[in-house]
Amino acid sequence: MTVSYKELGFINTQEMFAKAMKEGFAVPAYNFNNMEQLQAIITACFESRSPVILQVSKGARDYANATLLCWMGRGAIEMMKEMGAPVPVALHLDHGDSFEICQSCIDSGFSSVMIDGSHLPYEENIALTKKVVEYAHARGVSVEGELGVLAGIEDEVSAEHHTYTDPAQVEDFVKRTGVDSLAISIGTSHGAYKFKVKPGESVPPLRFDILEEVSKRLPGFPIVLHGASSVDQKAVETINKYGGKLENAVGVPAEQLRKAAKSAVCKINVDSDGRLVMTAAIRKVFAEKPSEFDPRKYLGPARADLIKMYKEKNESVFGSAGRY
Ligand code: G3H
Ligand code: 13P
Ligand code: ZN
Repeated sequence: MTVSYKELGFINTQEMFAKAMKEGFAVPAYNFNNMEQLQAIITACFESRSPVILQVSKGARDYANATLLCWMGRGAIEMMKEMGAPVPVALHLDHGDSFEICQSCIDSGFSSVMIDGSHLPYEENIALTKKVVEYAHARGVSVEGELGVLAGIEDEVSAEHHTYTDPAQVEDFVKRTGVDSLAISIGTSHGAYKFKVKPGESVPPLRFDILEEVSKRLPGFPIVLHGASSVDQKAVETINKYGGKLENAVGVPAEQLRKAAKSAVCKINVDSDGRLVMTAAIRKVFAEKPSEFDPRKYLGPARADLIKMYKEKNESVFGSAGRY
C-alpha cells in the first residue's frame, strides 16, 4: 500500500533547512534501529523543542524490518501528539544506494531520502540522483545527494582514505540533479575510529576551507555532514572499564561541529554516539548487577543516558534546542 508522508504527520526537510539556515543552527539527524533508541530521540527532541530527522539506514531495514520501522516512526508522531505541541519530524532514508530502495521508502511514507551515489563515477552519480529526485519531488519528498567519499565504513561500502568534495563540481551537480541538500566530505568519517591519533594528541581540524568554498558557490544551499559523532570519551572509558575493548576511539570535537552548525551545514548525522552510550550503560548494568535478566532493567538505563546525550547535543552542539 502506498501512503504519503503528509498523511502520517511527517514533514519534508526543505522547511526545516530554511529555518536552520536563516537562524544559524543544524537539524540533528539521529539513526534508530530499535524502540529504545527511537523513544530516546523523540523524548529528547520533544523536551528540548528541537526539530529532528529520524534516520533509517539500509542496515536498519534489514535488521528491524522496513515496515515495522516505518510504523514505529508513525507511532512516534502519535505519541508526541498525545504529549501536546509536537516538534517537526522528518523520516529519512540514510545512504540509499539504489532507485528501488528510495522508491520503496517514499511509497511507504518517508518524507526524505538520501541517494548516495558518491562511490559512482560522477556522471553515473548525477543520473541516479536525478532519477530519484524526479520520483521524490513529484510526491513532495526531499532528496539528499552526496559528492566526495568519507573514509571508513558506510553500510557494506568502505573506503580507506577520504576523497574530499571538489568544490568545482558542486554547482553543476546541484543544478543537474535538483537535490535539496548535499552531503560533502571534509574530513569526517563513519564509526568510532575517525582519526589516527595517539592518546592525548589532538585530532586534525576538518577542512573548513572546502566547506567555505562550497557555500560560496552554493549560497544559501543546505549542506549535510555525515560521520559527525564526537565519540564521548566517558562512554569509551565506561565500555572499556566493564569488559569492552575499544582502543583509540576518537570522534569529531564538539567545537568543530558547533562551528559547522553556524555555517551552511543544516543537517548533522549522528549514529555511533548513540551506540556507544547505549553499550556503556548496558555493560555497566551487566557488570554491577550480574543477576539482572529483565531487558527493561538494562535497556531502561541505556535509554535514559541516550535522552541525556541527545538533549546535550541539541542544546550545546547543534543549537537546535528551543527553536519550536
Ligand atoms: O552511515 C552509516 C550509519 O551509521 C548507519 O549504519 O548501516 O550500520 O545501520 P548501519
Ligand atoms: P557516525 O558514525 O559518526 O555517527 O555517523 C553517522 C552517519 O553519518 C549516518 O549516516
Ligand atoms: Zn552517513
